[in-house]
Amino acid sequence: MDRWPTLRRVVLHAATVASPGLLVLLLLLVLGVIAPGVAALALAVVLLATAVLVWPYVLGVDSLQVAVDRLERHGDSPGPDTGPSESLRRVWDAVRRMHHEKEQGRRAVEQRLQAEEAILTALPDPLLLIDPARRVVRANAAAAELFGGSPVGRDLAAAIRHPAVLAAADAVLAGEASRAVDFAVSTPVARELVARIMRLEHAAGMPRDGVLEDVAALLSLHDVTAIKRAERMRADFVANASHELRTPLSTLVGFVETLQGPARDDEEARDRFLAIMHEQAHRMARLVEDLLSLSRIEQDEHTPPSGRVDLGEIVHAAVETMEMKARSRGSSIDLVATAGLPLVQADADQIAQVLQNLIDNAIKYGRRGTPVAITLQRSPRGTLAGGRPGIALAVADQGEGIPREHLSRLTERFYRVDPARSRAMGGTGLGLAIVKHIVARHRGRLDIASEPGQGSRFTIHLPVAEPPPSSN
Ligand SMILES: Nc1ncnc2c1ncn2[C@@H]1O[C@H](COP(=O)(O)OP(=O)(O)OP(=O)(O)O)[C@@H](O)[C@H]1O
Ligand SMILES: [Mg+2]
Repeated sequence: MDRWPTLRRVVLHAATVASPGLLVLLLLLVLGVIAPGVAALALAVVLLATAVLVWPYVLGVDSLQVAVDRLERHGDSPGPDTGPSESLRRVWDAVRRMHHEKEQGRRAVEQRLQAEEAILTALPDPLLLIDPARRVVRANAAAAELFGGSPVGRDLAAAIRHPAVLAAADAVLAGEASRAVDFAVSTPVARELVARIMRLEHAAGMPRDGVLEDVAALLSLHDVTAIKRAERMRADFVANASHELRTPLSTLVGFVETLQGPARDDEEARDRFLAIMHEQAHRMARLVEDLLSLSRIEQDEHTPPSGRVDLGEIVHAAVETMEMKARSRGSSIDLVATAGLPLVQADADQIAQVLQNLIDNAIKYGRRGTPVAITLQRSPRGTLAGGRPGIALAVADQGEGIPREHLSRLTERFYRVDPARSRAMGGTGLGLAIVKHIVARHRGRLDIASEPGQGSRFTIHLPVAEPPPSSN
């Protein structure tokens, strides 16, 4: 430290401290009580003595100042040399304590902010915090992903252009507690969302100190695309099922009324009508059976089957059952099975149901007189998820085939390429939906290939069973 300013301050302090004594000396000199030489000597002695006394305190204050500066700038300090002054030491202790407490408080606030930031980032739903001027002051990672970049610093309208959402945000900023708005976005992918905007009363008017922003409202977005799709599917399903049931039911009611009325005594008509009624009742029963079957399969879908099944046996049994029907259409069923295939992990009854549906379709939609070909062999490597080895069971016909645009929808419930033709053949339109759910339960795979004019091939791949645990 520079010595001369310190010396100057020591002299100044000494002069100030000694000023009463100096005044007395001056008075005595003026009154002529002491000679000027004595006065000068006394003055020098008083000043020197006071300077010697004051010196350590001035050094102590300087050292204290250096220590406080260092503490403020670097966060720590070895402490001042306060000399003989007890009070200077106490001042230093108090300063250090206050600094320590302030640091602890700052760190606690910082940690809390970091934790809040981490929670905000980790939340899967997009979240935006907006200020009273509707500017986005914070956005989490999900929001940045949804909007293709962080909207922070811009007006909410730059992120969400939907007028209803902006109007709701304005209403909340103007004093409303909360609002929810349904809206849809088309980019980057089409999604249906619900925006919930909530007023943050306690946060309004927070100081803008660079750490906390002026937050007025929280806007959270909830992706409801899947829920809405499921709702639509459920409504469609109920409408379709009711429609499918109503058609045979109204036929039945119509014939009952005819038999009770005009055809009461017409024996020939009665036999004909009863045959139609029987067929319609049978159709309704099949529909209800298929619906129940579908719902049972869906319930079990999360528990894979545990049986170890020889697919060859099931295929042979199914061919025997369906051969009669094939013959009635002038066709045959040709089976080519690779020998010595391993067992598959499956539910035998459900696989029989799959085969029956596929063979039934191949006979129904195949050209009259052409054969249905069934093949059983190993699936190509990598067909099943996780690299599991599989067995491929294919049912192919030589029918009209299925136009490409229908292929992806064939396994939807009640979906038919030609509804009138399917109904005329007594189909419920649920066969392939049942196949899809059974295959899904088996963790298998369904492939559909079709060449219009040539025919169709439905292939299911089922995972090979794990070897049984050894008995010893
Ligand atoms: N092998 C096939 N060749 C041509 N089209 C087919 C074939 N299999 C299915 N389809 C088409 O897919 C639709 C759905 O088949 P699905 O088996 O689910 O219903 P369905 O055969 O009409 O009725 P169900 O099987 O309940 O008797 C059929 O209506 C038909 O249009
Ligand atoms: Mg079918």
